[in-house]
Amino acid sequence: MASSSSINSICLSLDDQSSKTLTTTTLSSFFAKPYSPRLLKRRRSQSFHVSCNANEHDQNINANIDRRNVLLGLGGLYSASNLAPLAFASPIPPPDLKSCSKATKTGSKDLVEYSCCPPTPKDLNNIPYYNLPPMSKLRKRPVAQDVTKEYIAKYQLATKRMKELDKDDPRSFMQQANIHCAYCNGAYKFGDEVLQVHQSWLFFPFHRWYLYFYERILGKLIDDPTFALPYWNWDHPKGMRLPPMFDRETTSLYDARRNPHVRNGTIIDFSSPRDEVTTDVGQTVTNNLTLMYRSMITNAACPLQFFGARYVLGNNDSKGQGTIENIPHTPVHIWAGTVRKTDLGGGKLSLGEDMGNFYSAALDPVFYCHHANVDRMWKVWKGLGGKRRDITDTDWLNSEFFFYDENKNPYRVRVRDCLDTKKMGYDYAPAAIPWVNCRPTRKGREGKVDLTNIEPANKVFPIVNLNKPISFSINRPTTSRSQKDKDEKEEVLIFKGLKYDTNKYIRFDVFLNEDEDVNTDELDKVEFAGSYVNLPHVHARNKKMDSDEMFQLDITELLEDIELEDDDTITVTVVPKTGGDVISIQSVAIELLDG
Ligand code: C2O
Repeated sequence: MASSSSINSICLSLDDQSSKTLTTTTLSSFFAKPYSPRLLKRRRSQSFHVSCNANEHDQNINANIDRRNVLLGLGGLYSASNLAPLAFASPIPPPDLKSCSKATKTGSKDLVEYSCCPPTPKDLNNIPYYNLPPMSKLRKRPVAQDVTKEYIAKYQLATKRMKELDKDDPRSFMQQANIHCAYCNGAYKFGDEVLQVHQSWLFFPFHRWYLYFYERILGKLIDDPTFALPYWNWDHPKGMRLPPMFDRETTSLYDARRNPHVRNGTIIDFSSPRDEVTTDVGQTVTNNLTLMYRSMITNAACPLQFFGARYVLGNNDSKGQGTIENIPHTPVHIWAGTVRKTDLGGGKLSLGEDMGNFYSAALDPVFYCHHANVDRMWKVWKGLGGKRRDITDTDWLNSEFFFYDENKNPYRVRVRDCLDTKKMGYDYAPAAIPWVNCRPTRKGREGKVDLTNIEPANKVFPIVNLNKPISFSINRPTTSRSQKDKDEKEEVLIFKGLKYDTNKYIRFDVFLNEDEDVNTDELDKVEFAGSYVNLPHVHARNKKMDSDEMFQLDITELLEDIELEDDDTITVTVVPKTGGDVISIQSVAIELLDG
C-alpha cells in the first residue's frame, strides 16, 4: 500500500523497479561501492570528546581490587548461602556448573522445564583460562549468499558430523545448542539472580565466544583448521532473505521447525517479522536499511547504547538491550521461528521454535550464520569512527563464560580476550554496507504538530496499557545546543520502568513531531526515532516473567533533521504494533547523557 516514491535518494540507488525484482545483478551493481568512512559526513564521525565516557567512575571503584581471588571459582562459591560478595558490584563470573539446574521454556503460561546443562567437567575446581592459540592462517568468514558449492558441501558435512556425535559429547550439535539455552533460560543462577546474557553488555562478547568455539569444532570435524562460518548479511538488500543453502531439505543445514514463510527467497521485514506485511518490497528494503542506520548510527553514538546496559553481579538496575540486539537481531529470530501455537506434530504446540525462542534458537543451524553477522556488526561499528568505541569498564572486561573447545577441553574465557577478531584467528570477507547512506532526509509532515492538542507527558504517564497510539508533549532540558554541546552529550529520550510480560513478543515504534495518525508503514523519514522489540526470554533478576527495562533513543540527530533544535517542547508518539496490551511504561524523560 505505501508508495516508495519519496524514498530518500541515497538509500536508493535502489529505484522502485529494481527493488521489486531484487535481482542479484541489479542489487550488486547498486551496492558494489565499498564502504568508506568518509561517507559518514556527520557529527558522528567527529571525536566524541568527553561524551560516551561513563566508565571512569566504575574504573576507580575497581582499581587494584582483585576480587577474583575473593569471588570467583567454578566450584560453587556462588551458592545461595554465600551472598556476601554480592555486596560489591563485580564482573559476571563463569557460571556455577555444579548448581546448573533445569531451564525454563518461555512463551507459554505454564512454564515448562527443559534440561540443557552441559556435561560436567571432571575437575570442576580447576578449569583453566583459555589462551588464544597461535594461528597460521586467518579464518575468513564468507558472505552466506556468495559461497561456492565446495564451501557448502564442506559446511554441510561438518554440520552433519556434529549432529552425529554422541549426545553427551560437549561438541555435539545438541550440546552446542544447549549452551544457548543454559545461558539464556535460567539454568545458571548466582544466588537469587538468573544468569542472562541478553539485554545487556554481555550480548556481543558471549555470542562471539560461542561462535568461536562452534566454528573451531566444525573445522576440527572436517579436519580443516581454516574453516570459517558464513555470515548472513541481512544488512544488505541482497542478504535480506534466508541464505539459500539453509533452505534445502534433507541437508544438515535445514531445520523443519522454521516458519514456512521464510522459504523460497521471501524478503524479511525487520519491522514486522510476524505481522502482515503491508508495504511493497521496495519500501520494506528501505525500512530495513533505515532501521540499520538507526541501530548502527543514530541510536548508537556511545558504547553502552550499542552494547547494552551495564550488567554486573548483584546489579539491580534496570536492564536494557543494545541497539543491534534490539533490531535487527531480534526480528530475524522472530521471523525464522514458527508462529506460537503452530502444531509441531505429535500434539506439540509451538513456542516459537526454533529461532523464535532462546531455549531452542541454536537448534537451527542458521542461528550461527545469523550471529556471525551480528558479530560482524560489532566490528563494523568499531570501524565507523568516533572516539569511544570500546568499553573500558573492568567489570565488563573481566566478565567470564565457560565453554568446551574443539578437543572437549573445558575452559573459562574472558571478555577482555575477545575484543579483536584477528587475534582470535578470524575475520570477515568485506561487503558493502549500504545503510551508512540511509540517514533519512525527507519529512513525513509539513511543519510542527500543534501542541495545544497534545497532552503533556505528566498527564499521560504512567501508561498502564499501551493498546493504542499515544502522543504527548515533553520538555527538553535545554535548547539550541551548539555542536560542542552535542559532541559532549547525547540528547536521549528515555522510557523508564518499561514493563511487559517477557513471555510475549512485543514491539512498538516511536516518532517525534507526529500525531496518533502517523503512517507507520514508511520508516524512512526524519520523524522515526526507533522501535523496541522483545523476544520471549527469562528475565535476569527473577523467574517471574515481568521485565523492568529502560529503553533509550538518541534524538540528537533527529532534532537537527526535523529542525526542532530551538524548541523547548516537542511531541512524541508511541505506536504499539504487537502485544501493546501487555506493555506499561512508568515514565519518560529527555536527558543529556554521556552515553
Ligand atoms: Cu543469544 Cu540471537 O540470541
